[in-house]
Amino acid sequence: MSHDGRPRARAPRAGDPRASAPANGRFTITAHTSADAEHRSAVEEMVRGLTAEPKMLSPRFLYHNEGSRLFDEITRLDEYYPTRVERALLERFAAEIVEEVRPLEIVELGPGSGAKSGTLIGPGLDAGTLARYIPFDISESAVRESASSLLQAHPDLGEIAGVVGDFGRHLSAVPSTQGRRLIAFLGSTIGNLHPQEQRRLLTELRRLMGRDDDAVLIGVDLVKDRRVLEEAYNDRRGVTALFNLNSLEAANDLLGLDLDADLFRHRAFFNAAHSRIEMHLEARADVSFALPPDGETVRLRAGETIWTESSYKFTREGFADTLRDAGFSRARWYTDPDEMFALVLARPAPSRGV
Ligand code: SAH
Ligand code: AVI
Repeated sequence: MSHDGRPRARAPRAGDPRASAPANGRFTITAHTSADAEHRSAVEEMVRGLTAEPKMLSPRFLYHNEGSRLFDEITRLDEYYPTRVERALLERFAAEIVEEVRPLEIVELGPGSGAKSGTLIGPGLDAGTLARYIPFDISESAVRESASSLLQAHPDLGEIAGVVGDFGRHLSAVPSTQGRRLIAFLGSTIGNLHPQEQRRLLTELRRLMGRDDDAVLIGVDLVKDRRVLEEAYNDRRGVTALFNLNSLEAANDLLGLDLDADLFRHRAFFNAAHSRIEMHLEARADVSFALPPDGETVRLRAGETIWTESSYKFTREGFADTLRDAGFSRARWYTDPDEMFALVLARPAPSRGV
């Protein structure tokens, strides 16, 4: 990180997608913090979580190393309906949405592999308005790989300005707006934040939007039958279990531990009182391990859990309230006939004149 704490642009490296980008495409990447600073803050966060009551690990650690690939595999599972349904909604409505917003730039939070991004970029280019795409993800490889494949698929895309950062902490690293902006936050990743964090993030997004005709497009998973919800997080092939256990891998790597995945089992269930799927790692027997820096011991009794993720499921009324509280209005909802999932297009509430 530079001394003033501002993001710094990285010099190109061998294998950097910039090197392989088509001549008429441009890709830059900005890392909000240095790998060292990020490592220190991840270690502190893990230690805090594992010594808290209940014990927890931030869901961002699910995407550590193999985690992004495992999530990609989840999106192809029969039981995991959110990706399938949201994708169908995008295929059906993206052109209409883009035609209405006519964005000069699209900022996407948590694009992952970028598999859905093209459904917005294609119509943006067709409409002749889109000049810049800004993917923002905690995973540097996600930003690099998605940029590379998007530049290949859309050679007319003028610029990709990727940002590596945590959307809970580093949104100020999003480059300043150059024109009408569409912010996309797909996949119901907003549901991985607790309600207070959802409001805070949306309020931050409101600040990233310079103009009343900017818009935000959010994918939200809707409340439904408990069985359908729980099957989506307990797939038969056990891919979600591996994804969950990958948090242990992250703890091993970052804290220098040697925890065996066999010590824990995957648990995911719908907590109706809080309208969320909870994912936990449950100790199969008593487990203890020492944390850096001073060797504080963490003890779990058999059956005790480490809470690794919440995935909130929304009602229309509840999410409309959240949007209103964060300064958005004029929301338009796009949903499938069974109301499994929704895309919500919202605009900043008009600023009151002085
Ligand atoms: N939008 C894609 C991917 C969703 S997976 C889809 O709908 O399929 C969630 C994505 O958010 C991953 O790419 C992960 O790396 C990213 N992510 C998770 N926590 C994050 C955080 N705190 N800050 C930034 N990105 C985060
Ligand atoms: C990215 N996020 C919205 C996914 C979800 O459904 O909460 C992550 C995930 N967790 C388990 N399966 C998928």
